[in-house]
Amino acid sequence: MSRTMNHTAPFHVVRDPKVVRDVLHRPDDFSPANALVAVTPLSGRSLRVLQKAAFALPPILASNDSPTHPGIRKVVAGFFTPATVQAIEPRIRELARKAAHAAALELEATGTVELVNAVAALPPAQIMLELLGVSISHDELLALKAWSVDSLELFWGWPEPERQLELAHSAAEFYDWLRGLVRRCTQSQERNLFAALDQHGLTLPEICSLGYFLLIAGQETTTQLISTVLYRLAEGNCPVTWQDAAAQGPARAAVRHVLAGESSVPTWRRVAARDTHLNGELIPAGAEILLELTGNHKTPDGGTRATDYSLAFGSGVHRCLGAKLAELEAAVVIQEAAAAIQQARLAGEVPEWLRLLSFQAPQIVLVTGQ
Ligand code: HEM
Repeated sequence: MSRTMNHTAPFHVVRDPKVVRDVLHRPDDFSPANALVAVTPLSGRSLRVLQKAAFALPPILASNDSPTHPGIRKVVAGFFTPATVQAIEPRIRELARKAAHAAALELEATGTVELVNAVAALPPAQIMLELLGVSISHDELLALKAWSVDSLELFWGWPEPERQLELAHSAAEFYDWLRGLVRRCTQSQERNLFAALDQHGLTLPEICSLGYFLLIAGQETTTQLISTVLYRLAEGNCPVTWQDAAAQGPARAAVRHVLAGESSVPTWRRVAARDTHLNGELIPAGAEILLELTGNHKTPDGGTRATDYSLAFGSGVHRCLGAKLAELEAAVVIQEAAAAIQQARLAGEVPEWLRLLSFQAPQIVLVTGQ
């Protein structure tokens, strides 16, 4: 374990997967209360923009360390059961195939295609909304994608003051839209998550807080995972080749390889709820912990080994509720893209990567054919 500075906050960084699991399995000692705290403190101007939109993130799910968490988690989990996820596979394939074919046509017509936009961006969001029973227009879907990336940067990035203000305006606009959506859904007779949370007794701001986290976490993270897998396959830097990824098993292996070594959510935070010990070291109450969920770690014999891929989704009582869905979506999108485009190689300049405290992915994956 080491101590590091990340521009603003000192973190106890935990890298050893065994110790990471230990932290995640001791929620009374290590609370998730800091999960959604802005890494770069919000300026007065940014706070005023958010306050004007009555933006608030009371602890409901990911950052909830109170006894209300299990009940709320159960309501949300009801929308992502293993049976539901299995049943939606044909729909994921339909969306993935359609996007992959359009990408292949574009490649044929122009000589290149940008795969993040063409195949990774929309299917995870469309599927998440269908599972939640929430219906929005195509324009709203595109706005959700743009708002998501802005909010990730606002809460997990290091924006300069002017950029932070711009991001705060985006988050306020997102939240405003979300409040209208939640109102509409709670009045609907159709089964949907927001109505279920309303029936569970959550208030409008509580449902909005959960919705804000879930509408981002439930799709942008999967888009980012798919983007990294596509990048590594097109680069030829994956145990599986691009052509092999057209089959189900190898596509899944490529996804697990990236989850283990460079997942879209590379770290997650906890805070010590009281003075406690970790791996023989005293951790004072209030200490912020940064857990490494993915990457290569030293083994006792001096070698290195990638983390078990399953740690990419956390562990314990807050483990990701979308793990099965995300893995399935990623594998299907990869498989369909590799089947539609016979051979893809990276083209153009090395792209910029999104590098936030807890999110990472290439921003574009431009490829050419044979
Ligand atoms: C590649 C995609 C994804 C990754 C890497 C990922 C990763 C994570 C991580 C690291 C956590 C925190 C776990 C912990 O604190 O122990 C988490 C929580 C969560 N994720 Fe995901 N996630 C992904 C996709 C999804 C999807 C598709 C959904 C739903 C549609 C989802 C819903 C959730 C929820 C609801 C929580 C909070 C659970 C709780 O606090 O009880 N995630 N995710």
